[in-house]
Amino acid sequence: MTAALELRGLCKTYPIRERGGLLPRYRDLPVVRDVNLVVARNSIVGLVGESGSGKTTTGMMALRLTEPSAGRILVSGHDITDLSPQALKPYRAKMQVVFQDSYSALDPMFTLAQIVAEPLHIHGIGSASEQTQTALDWLERVGLHRSYGQRYPHELSGGQRQRVAIARALILRPDVLIADEPTSALDVSVKAQIINLLRDLQEEMGLSILFISHDLSVVRSLTDKVAVMFNGRIVEEAPTEGIFAAAQHPYTRSLLDAIPVLNPRDRRARIFRSREELEADIPRISAATTGLARNATPALVPHAPGHQFEAIVE
Ligand SMILES: Nc1ncnc2c1ncn2[C@@H]1O[C@H](COP(=O)(O)OP(=O)(O)O)[C@@H](O)[C@H]1O
Ligand SMILES: [Mg+2]
Repeated sequence: MTAALELRGLCKTYPIRERGGLLPRYRDLPVVRDVNLVVARNSIVGLVGESGSGKTTTGMMALRLTEPSAGRILVSGHDITDLSPQALKPYRAKMQVVFQDSYSALDPMFTLAQIVAEPLHIHGIGSASEQTQTALDWLERVGLHRSYGQRYPHELSGGQRQRVAIARALILRPDVLIADEPTSALDVSVKAQIINLLRDLQEEMGLSILFISHDLSVVRSLTDKVAVMFNGRIVEEAPTEGIFAAAQHPYTRSLLDAIPVLNPRDRRARIFRSREELEADIPRISAATTGLARNATPALVPHAPGHQFEAIVE
């Protein structure tokens, strides 16, 4: 079956200004490098990695809100990489996003009913009163009373705002939801409620979710598969249990070690700060055993079904 979302060789470089010199000189800084990722239909894929690893940029490219420097984006098997804004519009309806900070995405001048109904309005679906009714239905579905339709964003708690953002993202019944750190700003108990809501909606709607997070405990409870990102590359990918039971890559292990435990003295985290530092720890795998040609650069090698990790193959 075709994947809901597939990223092939996705890259992003930003020009950065070099220091010194009389004339301005620019150098390309790669922030996402050759990312390959499949989000199967009706599944939740976690994209994890510390801040700055390129997760948001990857998600924004998948939505074509940021243009890739190279690579392809496929939605239900359709290549949307080069589509014009007009041709992209039907796919836009099929792919929605929820951010960490939904407050800035919710217009303070609009009622919650208006905010949730807006995508229907933009896509010209239904009459004004039908749009309002659907919006109120969605408020209920995400756990808010219909009377919230008359309220404004500033009246809500952080968790309630995320519920509104989720209702707005799902009202067009998208196939794919990109959730970029949607629970990172929330307290533990509220976080669990939002995770449960996302899980319920995913099951009910058969949604495919790319769940971006640096919080591995949340990712463990929610996702089917995990891709670990470091320095713009996916360095390990596996079914969720494979990541937690048998992480192969030193960076994945360092992320797992950094999960808070009851007695913090029991574990010491070692988070790698640079590619060089990490590479010193990357396992070397003989080309003879993997069948790969001699190569000094890291490559993905298989470990178990659906489980691969980056290693230096020689
Ligand atoms: N518009 C931009 N211009 C230049 N650099 C950027 C831009 N957006 C992001 N970056 C850089 O790309 C890297 C990855 O950022 P991001 O995708 O936000 O990572 P993450 O979501 O994993 O924290 C960071 O080093 C960030 O500074
Ligand atoms: Mg981010």
